Amino acid sequence: MYQLSTTTMFLYIVIAFVISIWYVIRHWNLLKLIVKCIYAYIRCPGRGLELLGMFQDAFPDIFRVRFSIKTVYVLAKPEYYEKVLSSPLAVDKPEVYTLLDQFLGPNIFTAAENLWRQQRRLLNLSFSQKRIDSHSEIFLEEADNLAKELVTHASQKNLDLEGLMRVCFAQATARALFGVKFKVTVEDSRKMDRIFIETARRGVHLFYVPSILMPPMPKAFNKSLSDAIIASKSIIFERRKQLVRNKTLLQDDKPQTERAQKSHMLDYILECPEFTDERAMSEIILFLIAGNETSSATLMYACLLLAMHPDIQEKLYHDVVSICGLDDPITLEKLPKIDYAERIIKETLRLFPSAPIIGRYTQGDLDIGGRVIPKHSTVYLHIVYTHRDPRFWQEPLTFDPDRFLQENASKIYPFSYIPFSYGSRNCIGLRFAMTSIKIALVNLIRKVKVFTDYKSVEDVKLKAHFLLRPRDGWKLRFEARN
Ligand code: HEM
Repeated sequence: MYQLSTTTMFLYIVIAFVISIWYVIRHWNLLKLIVKCIYAYIRCPGRGLELLGMFQDAFPDIFRVRFSIKTVYVLAKPEYYEKVLSSPLAVDKPEVYTLLDQFLGPNIFTAAENLWRQQRRLLNLSFSQKRIDSHSEIFLEEADNLAKELVTHASQKNLDLEGLMRVCFAQATARALFGVKFKVTVEDSRKMDRIFIETARRGVHLFYVPSILMPPMPKAFNKSLSDAIIASKSIIFERRKQLVRNKTLLQDDKPQTERAQKSHMLDYILECPEFTDERAMSEIILFLIAGNETSSATLMYACLLLAMHPDIQEKLYHDVVSICGLDDPITLEKLPKIDYAERIIKETLRLFPSAPIIGRYTQGDLDIGGRVIPKHSTVYLHIVYTHRDPRFWQEPLTFDPDRFLQENASKIYPFSYIPFSYGSRNCIGLRFAMTSIKIALVNLIRKVKVFTDYKSVEDVKLKAHFLLRPRDGWKLRFEARN
């Protein structure tokens, strides 16, 4: 057998030692960062987003990570966002998203390009400003119910505020998009939250655990999913019944029902031969979750920021009361006059974009301006980092709704603000969200005062499982105004 002499062995050890020292010196900053992150992560695993921010501080525009055979690029440069989000080669979604298909089946949020284009074209019909405006009464009714619930239970300890807000937006979504009055409870809304969060958690674990080694999904997840499927079936059943009834009335020459007939997103889906009932169910669950999770979180963050800034809260209150009175309905004519509320929501979405990081999967080599991201790479866009980046925002952690005054628009660095993403695959519900959140906020603020124990934006440590949440809870309190 071949044996090394002592001298050769010594020589090998010296060479290995020298190479290691050279490597450590060359990558000292990176190694220090990795050790720091591992230590911080072991101490508190909910700090993933913060640690990603530490990497981004070291490599502010782009960095690349390899997880076995997967290569992931993380970007935080506005120019790169524009390139990626407007490229036809980056329309598909990465595995973290498409995992949802295993449980729900394909839907607009996860579908690959061909299927997605067909779906988006059809569903876009329901999201024009005119269509959204036609739902304003529904938004107001649901906002009124929310305000009543909050006033009645304001003093109750452990009140699930976010749950109540999720109920408001889920019911508004069901009525406006599916055309059915659908009773949602706080417990139902928690189940929808669970579906999204558990799927996102599993998606993140897929970075370092092969899918065959993944444990089965928890029982609570399976129960939530089967309840959501039952609910979506009953929505389809109910809407089909209504459509048949409307048709009969039409045949009886009752023209007023004509308008009601093809006015909801679900009607387009049910009438389209490509949409099976399974696909319709998947869309219903997806829209219920996408519509209520993001909007309720935004309303919660807006309340949090107003509670931290009582002067801004009072200014909004006076604006609302001077335009809408204490109890008059918030009509479509009055809504544009309360532009302060809109600026507050935009600034809230800057500091707390409910979708803090979004991903794309490249179908070809992507030139993002002097740098090529190869085909079959996963690209993440670190939106929340850019929204708070001092290179693009003066005093980024200051809550200042006037950044979004018309006269300040030119000061916003292009693509440094994309809470609804950008390009052909941006948020289809942008107008729906802005209108429904504005009505809910305006209506709420004239009925209640908001308080929080957080002193500043820096105080609110963040975590993300797809959606941005405060790590230490909301710490919000409401008191009825007399
Ligand atoms: C403040 C509220 C909202 C925010 C911040 C938000 C944000 C976003 C973002 C960033 C995306 C792109 C995701 C990605 O590419 O990974 C997106 C997509 C989407 N959003 Fe929203 N969203 C909001 C409200 C809504 C509402 C109210 C609905 C429906 C009623 C909705 C439905 C969707 C759907 C279906 C997609 C997928 C679109 C596609 O792939 O074509 N969103 N949203």
